[in-house]
Amino acid sequence: CGIVGYSGKQQAAPLIIEGLKRLEYRGYDSAGVAVAASTAGAGSATALHCLKKTGRVANLEQAAAQAPLPPSTCGIGHTRWATHGGVTEANAHPHLSHDGRLALVHNGVIENCDSIKKFLLAQGCRFRSETDTEVLCNLIAYHYAKEAEPATTAAGGDGPSQRLLSAVRKTLRHVEGTYGIVALCVDAPEALVAARQGSPLILGVGEGENLIASDAAAIVSRTQKVVYLNDGELALVTPTSLHLSGLNAVALEPVFDEITWSINDAQRGDYAHFMEKEIFEQPAALENTMRGRFAADGSTTQFGGLNLSADELRQVDRLLLCACGTAWHACLVAKHLIERFAGLPVEVDYASEFRYRNAPLSPRTLCVVMSQSGETIDTLAALREAQRKGHRVLAITNVVGSTIAREADGGIYQHAGPEIGVASTKAFTSQLLVGAMLALHLARLRSLSFNDGADYVAALRAVPQLVRQALEQAPHIAQIAARYVQAADMLFLGRLALFPIALEGALKLKEISYIHAEGYPAAELKHGPIALISEACPSVFFVTRGELFSKVLSSMQEVKARRGKIIAICTTGLELPADLADEVIRIPDCHEAVLPIVATIPVQLLSYYMARELGCDVDKPRNLAKSVTVE
Ligand code: G6P
Repeated sequence: CGIVGYSGKQQAAPLIIEGLKRLEYRGYDSAGVAVAASTAGAGSATALHCLKKTGRVANLEQAAAQAPLPPSTCGIGHTRWATHGGVTEANAHPHLSHDGRLALVHNGVIENCDSIKKFLLAQGCRFRSETDTEVLCNLIAYHYAKEAEPATTAAGGDGPSQRLLSAVRKTLRHVEGTYGIVALCVDAPEALVAARQGSPLILGVGEGENLIASDAAAIVSRTQKVVYLNDGELALVTPTSLHLSGLNAVALEPVFDEITWSINDAQRGDYAHFMEKEIFEQPAALENTMRGRFAADGSTTQFGGLNLSADELRQVDRLLLCACGTAWHACLVAKHLIERFAGLPVEVDYASEFRYRNAPLSPRTLCVVMSQSGETIDTLAALREAQRKGHRVLAITNVVGSTIAREADGGIYQHAGPEIGVASTKAFTSQLLVGAMLALHLARLRSLSFNDGADYVAALRAVPQLVRQALEQAPHIAQIAARYVQAADMLFLGRLALFPIALEGALKLKEISYIHAEGYPAAELKHGPIALISEACPSVFFVTRGELFSKVLSSMQEVKARRGKIIAICTTGLELPADLADEVIRIPDCHEAVLPIVATIPVQLLSYYMARELGCDVDKPRNLAKSVTVE
């Protein structure tokens, strides 16, 4: 879910709605905004005004245009990915306390919500929604009502805002679970109180205005100066001040950071969708991933942030890679390359499974987590679990300053630039590239020769150009896509390092077009999925040179014999038997370390054009969120 809070000189509601639009990729089931305002001229009492709508932020924007909220320079907003309770207006955030004097937006899950609710019901509190957030809001209101009005203090604003801060702090001491919250109170109409435990929040520091958001994307249009809130920290924010403190009320010094990208990097430009833009900007993104990372002798890679010496890396005798979703596919490719070139055994685990399965880890195992957003809660939990067992953990992530980046003991930034489309594209290929670069680094500390290292480096350097060539197939792929949109199911089949690309191709297609798809190693076809083959179930095969070429051809024959349609993604220079494939998409032949990157391009384009042909909302597929910060 996405959170935006604003306190400053401008009208808050339009700014918050604008911010929510930029956060929509975090969830888009419903959206809402609340402001503190006095309706009838000077002297009248301030009240909270709240507007909520189910569906996209555009619905909220439309409603706000038809019936504008009263003028106000301070407010909070939220775009939701439903966890507790269905997608209804009542369940949308912000939630108001039963007396209407407090509003709250919340990401995360309150685990002891039921017992708190029981307590509040006994106090006479009544609830309008099924959410844990409304319970939390009312517990804050309960503590607020009990707080004695403190005298005006120098640190952190006037009495009511201190009182709100203190009520939030008291509440959070009783709460189990995860949260990123922002509270607004009618008595302190210029103040926002934020707190975080397990769900990200960033403070944006502007000129006479301050912002709070769950993601930099919502604030970067107003300021690039930020403070990342840590777990267990609270912030009291007014237009001109920002005070941090712990749950124990000890004041903390804010650490200021700079966001390195600007709003222009997150604009769609002339492209129809962010996904299209991000597919086509891969050559540049991959260039950025590699920049400054080749050693002077031209035979290996170097990384500034691993925080491990060459000797320490030589001690490693096994790797564990953990991730979710698309990043998990990138880990599977990295496993293949690390085992192949560095000779190290690698295990890949879903982060959500690793955290609970008590995997035995030998002391010389190097743990690596991979996460585009750096905020996925399962991946973060896997990182913490490995650290708890005494392991140093490296992170491969795209978002500088993300929670995973900050908690890891070292790592490699992808530098692919902000990815907005919910279906990951450029972040995936840049993860593949980082994996390939890490494999080379480990290999050169072991047995890989100088010459083989130099060839590998040359192959990596060629990646942007190879990807450019693969992208030239886009018009051809768009035509193929139009011919297959009626498919009920689709299979993606590849071998070795292209098996994970088959998985990724299937995932992309089902995510954005809702066509059922599965990825398999081609030889597994006969062990089950072949039962699906019919004219309504086309197969996409990756066909490349090497010892498995003839085996892949046999698998294709098995499909053909059952009247299945075949789309072959085939490296240039390979002769396919006549009439075997119905469609052929050519990709440049290249070094095996970078082939998975090049082979990804056609499956991204194929799923994109199929989804577009079907009229799907490519950038915001149903039920999905880009960054899942709940378990
Ligand atoms: C969500 C997204 C996926 C993504 C996964 C992991 O499920 O929809 O596209 O691959 O999270 O995200 P991360 O940011 O950790 O790479």
